[in-house]
Amino acid sequence: MSEMHLSDVNTLRKRARSHVENGAVTEGYNADREEILRLLNESLATELVCVLRYKRHHFMANGLKASVAASEFLEHATQEAEHADKLAERIVQLGGAPEFDPDLLSRHSHAQYVAGNTLKEMVYEDLVAERIAIDSYREIIQYIGDKDPTTRRLFEEILAQEEEHADDMADILQDL
Ligand SMILES: [Fe+2]
Ligand SMILES: [Fe+2]
Repeated sequence: MSEMHLSDVNTLRKRARSHVENGAVTEGYNADREEILRLLNESLATELVCVLRYKRHHFMANGLKASVAASEFLEHATQEAEHADKLAERIVQLGGAPEFDPDLLSRHSHAQYVAGNTLKEMVYEDLVAERIAIDSYREIIQYIGDKDPTTRRLFEEILAQEEEHADDMADILQDL
């Protein structure tokens, strides 16, 4: 096995002291920061659009007395909001600004906002949106590679939960 050589301590210490105003972004940061910030903001838009879509579906399904789907929609809305918070937090750590402008959200989002009228339409559209998120997050993870492990791990955690969401929607759809 080949030995792993960490930069020597003096270099590490000197590097850490230069540009301290950049906070978590050190000289060793290997990724294209602007590109990572763009991907994070597009993902933030995706999550926020998903929160809104799941919220509508939750209240509409309540009206249809479809309580199992309604509570599932609410749980997903809550988890998408948590994903959005984590993405926004990471954007700030990397020296960027999270975009919350409602006029830009649907333009930047990978997944769409489809209202859906029947319960079946709603579940179907949620499943499609989850599948879009899964594919885009998987591509982002591949793009990041080992250039920014923290951001990659964040996307991996979110991806795992989107796969659960897609599975939940597929289960409900089967019974409709
Ligand atoms: Fe999400
Ligand atoms: Fe999701």
